[in-house]
Amino acid sequence: MTIELLPQKKGPQISKYIYGQFSEHLGNGIYGSLYVGKNSDIANVNGMRTDVVDALKKIHVPVLRWPGGLFADTYHWMDGIGPKDDRKKIVNTNWGDVTENNHFGTHEYFELLNQLGADAYINANIGSGTVQEMAEWVEYMTMPGESPMANLRRQNGQEDPWKVKFFGIGNESWGGGGNMRPEYYSDVYRQYQTFLPQYDKDHPIYKVACGPNEDDYNWTDTVMKYAGQYLDGISLHYYTLPKGTWGQSKGDATGFPESEWDSTMTRAKHMDELITKHSTIMDRYDPDKRVNLIVDEWGTWFNVEKGTNPGFLHQQNTIRDAMVAAINLNIFQKHADRVYMANIAQMVNVLQAMILTKGDQMLKTPTYYVFDMYQKHMNGELVEGVGSVPENVTYTASQKDDKLTISICNYDAHEAQNVDFSGLADFKKVKSGKILTADKLDAHNTFDNPDAVVEKDFVGAELKHGTLHLALPAKSVVSVTLK
Ligand code: AHR
Repeated sequence: MTIELLPQKKGPQISKYIYGQFSEHLGNGIYGSLYVGKNSDIANVNGMRTDVVDALKKIHVPVLRWPGGLFADTYHWMDGIGPKDDRKKIVNTNWGDVTENNHFGTHEYFELLNQLGADAYINANIGSGTVQEMAEWVEYMTMPGESPMANLRRQNGQEDPWKVKFFGIGNESWGGGGNMRPEYYSDVYRQYQTFLPQYDKDHPIYKVACGPNEDDYNWTDTVMKYAGQYLDGISLHYYTLPKGTWGQSKGDATGFPESEWDSTMTRAKHMDELITKHSTIMDRYDPDKRVNLIVDEWGTWFNVEKGTNPGFLHQQNTIRDAMVAAINLNIFQKHADRVYMANIAQMVNVLQAMILTKGDQMLKTPTYYVFDMYQKHMNGELVEGVGSVPENVTYTASQKDDKLTISICNYDAHEAQNVDFSGLADFKKVKSGKILTADKLDAHNTFDNPDAVVEKDFVGAELKHGTLHLALPAKSVVSVTLK
């Protein structure tokens, strides 16, 4: 099959924030994995775990959403500042009722961002917090001059204000974030955003409203109608569940039947329909696409790994997860005119993670390698293609700095595929190519065998007379750059 690419036609820019991450105070998502504390035996810089930070730096995490998730609507930021021994110990009621000692708070979050080179995406507490609490947090973080909160920040060791790029007002306010109706939430949103201080007039904080759960189109319609003029982005949450429901068993992360491979692919592709339909509703109120769709929770959600705390959402990550990652990234990029940020849930040890840790060991998951291969699309210009791909294949083409990158996923469990891309006469050679593939449906990395599924050099690409020929094995993700 041949697809004609149109590199001469200017497409929308693919925002680097599509490669965003999410870390919540949930299970081992932060403590012991990102943050170990300065006195830990595990190598760290200012408490941040060196091996994990180094691995994440290689995928250039552009933005990190924090502190939740559901945790955000129970989080009181003042509990997490000041001397560590004096910080309040609270119960994390959403995630296993474990004690949260608040040692990772605002200062630690910005230290982590600084080490990663990532931008901030803070989610405020509107469920059990107050307008004043939110306004003072923003004052604490961003006020450059004299003020009560800026002075408190200085007293706690941070002279300069930090930059807050994105700010979420509510998380799942339709559910665990307050069980609100969209009409009521719209008013709450309008009120909170009114008191969000903007001290840096040149770089105003980007405001994200709580958007719909999956296909709740009425939520999108109502919030856009009543609050659309006051927001920059509206979020969407959609998880890939192999069985399509939140029932007793979601399906296992490993050792699953082939039928669950197929259903997982179908559920992952559903993201395209959701974005298309929510975006169409947004068009009614915002035809110029000023407001973005922010997919700030997505990824696979399986049964927790046997023997682990059910509240910690710990799951293995296989070549199937890699397919889900590639399918979703291709969908977000296809909708680059509307999707400005996406945050996979979650960065380390929780749900579809980049990295798993156990004590002082760590491993990179198949999903990590997809993010590594796809990062060449960050801030690239989307290249349109004419013609259809084979069934079970999905791709993105983009160009940046005179180079063109095609990333393509053959999620067929058994069949190899040949795909040709024409229209590439301006490109002279295949500059680089990588592939991620595996034999078994649930192939994954373990602490004993951390390199079972890793990206490798790809030799199945040939560029001849302006046509690129790709030979894709079954269950593979391939990324090829032409120059
Ligand atoms: O990512 C795990 C949880 O899923 C988040 O806390 C919540 O927002 C969603 O329901």
